[in-house]
Amino acid sequence: MSDNSFYTTTDSGAPAGSDEHSLTVGAGGPIVLHDHYLIEQMAQFNRERVPERQPHAKGSGAFGVFETTEDVSAYTCASLFQPKVKTDMVARFSTVAGERGSPDTWRDPRGFALKFYTDQGNYDLVGNNTPIFFMKDPLKFQHFIRSQKRRADNNLRDHDMQWDFWTLSPESAHQVTWLMGDRGIPRTWRHMNGYSSHTYSWVNADGQKFWVKYHFISEQGIEFFTQDEADQMASADTDYHTRDLFEHIADGKYPQWRLKVQIMPFDDAKTYRFNPFDLTKVWPHGDYPLIDVGTMTLNANPTDHHTQIEQAAFEPNNLVPGIGLSPDRMLLGRSFAYSDAHRYRIGANYKQLPVNAPHNEVHSYSKDGAMRYTPVSDPVYAPNSKGGPAATFSGQPEPEWAADGEIIRSAYVDHPEDDDFGQAGTMVREVLDDAARERLVDNIVGHLLNGVTDPVLERAYEYFSRVDADLGAAIKAGVTAKAGELDPKAAEQGNSARSSMQAKA
Ligand code: NDP
Ligand code: HEM
Repeated sequence: MSDNSFYTTTDSGAPAGSDEHSLTVGAGGPIVLHDHYLIEQMAQFNRERVPERQPHAKGSGAFGVFETTEDVSAYTCASLFQPKVKTDMVARFSTVAGERGSPDTWRDPRGFALKFYTDQGNYDLVGNNTPIFFMKDPLKFQHFIRSQKRRADNNLRDHDMQWDFWTLSPESAHQVTWLMGDRGIPRTWRHMNGYSSHTYSWVNADGQKFWVKYHFISEQGIEFFTQDEADQMASADTDYHTRDLFEHIADGKYPQWRLKVQIMPFDDAKTYRFNPFDLTKVWPHGDYPLIDVGTMTLNANPTDHHTQIEQAAFEPNNLVPGIGLSPDRMLLGRSFAYSDAHRYRIGANYKQLPVNAPHNEVHSYSKDGAMRYTPVSDPVYAPNSKGGPAATFSGQPEPEWAADGEIIRSAYVDHPEDDDFGQAGTMVREVLDDAARERLVDNIVGHLLNGVTDPVLERAYEYFSRVDADLGAAIKAGVTAKAGELDPKAAEQGNSARSSMQAKA
């Protein structure tokens, strides 16, 4: 060890010649190609970015612990949900549509992605801060995200295409109403709930099966930004939510959430008044009350955002014994999409990176590929008689359900109260107070006045009238009045009024 042991090295560990001066032919001459350290710095820099996530590109997260404080072993044998078990975890929060540098305070659902390093493998719960979603079939997801991102011609986001898609997709009404309400812009990530949104299955040690929905309820309470506050914050501090989480954890003010679940007995699913696997519906609390499970605490910041958060790979297919999927089509689609995205975004061996690697031993037969570094040993195939691992784990029953029928393309089978607007209407009439309803109208009016053209606008009035007649009428009146204020002459002429007004809105 030299006296000066903390000197700069090249990536291969040899002393670097200088932090400041490239190798040149004399003081005034050209740089030479064999300045390998300069080349290494330039080349590495050019390769510093991995592609950003397609949706959910902007986000950050933290590490923490989940502790099961209650006894839910009657419903699941999952080891992390047994009484008093503590499990290390990582969480990432995000917006959906914005790019990696976009403002944290844009109106959007927030991702609420969790990875639990259990003793039986990694369990990922990749949820949002909303209990529902915009659609119920994975075939529509890609189109939905494209409508939220940027136009082909001018590369701008476009409210017209957002409302065009939404109003042609009536199943989006519940989520859109939710999004336009107060919770569409959480004040901080600490002040929002997280939901599995989907229905999953649980199975207990006796093989009894249940359907389950997860609710992570913020111990900090729910707080939100009004549209004006959020707009101001978007320019004052683009990274407000990222900063808030980091600073609170750095100050030892660890945010916490209580996990509560709704449990549905397996056979109720057939006859429940709503299709329990339809991601655009909640299970009203009166039907299936919340049951306490435990506490999630985030208590450690990342020390390297890139390797610990940007390269974190969450995937709903990461399940552990005692927990399974469900017939929710969106969930089944997602069980393919994420690992495929990770192989593209990070690389085939992304599960070897420390943030993604399970904390228990891995005995898989996967081998080789780019950037693999965990050594593989023989035998490299199964079955074998050479002492390799065998898939003999039989400790717990697997959650499963029956399915048969023709292979067809169809809508879900309706349950008695399934429709696209009912639950959204219940929220507007029974959950929101007068002030929240007014803000909802204002938010929708403001959004519609930002470039939405006439045929789409008419459909939007109809869409919200089906959620609630008064809501639809208030939105129409609000748009008409504001359009008139902004451009009285053009308002009389209808469609073109709004186009000319958009630039000012
Ligand atoms: P409850 O009165 O039991 O629950 C109402 C729910 O609405 C609570 O979870 C509450 O969250 C949440 N909430 C309150 N204000 C807002 C808001 N501005 N935006 C979105 N959610 C809000 O009623 P039900 O369970 O019978 O559900 C009635 C309606 O409430 C549903 O149709 C649905 O639209 C909405 N909802 C239902 C949820 C569920 O899982 N059942 C979850 C969230 C919304 P909290 O008490 O935690 O603050
Ligand atoms: C991110 C696909 C629906 C929550 C992503 C990513 C893809 C994707 C490809 C990027 C992954 C990455 O590169 O790391 C899909 C598809 C869906 C769907 C195909 C429907 C068929 C949903 C739903 C939820 C959700 C319903 C919530 C309930 C998230 C979250 C992230 C994400 C939280 C960010 C994860 C992170 O922080 O890394 N989704 N998604 N998605 N999705 Fe979805």
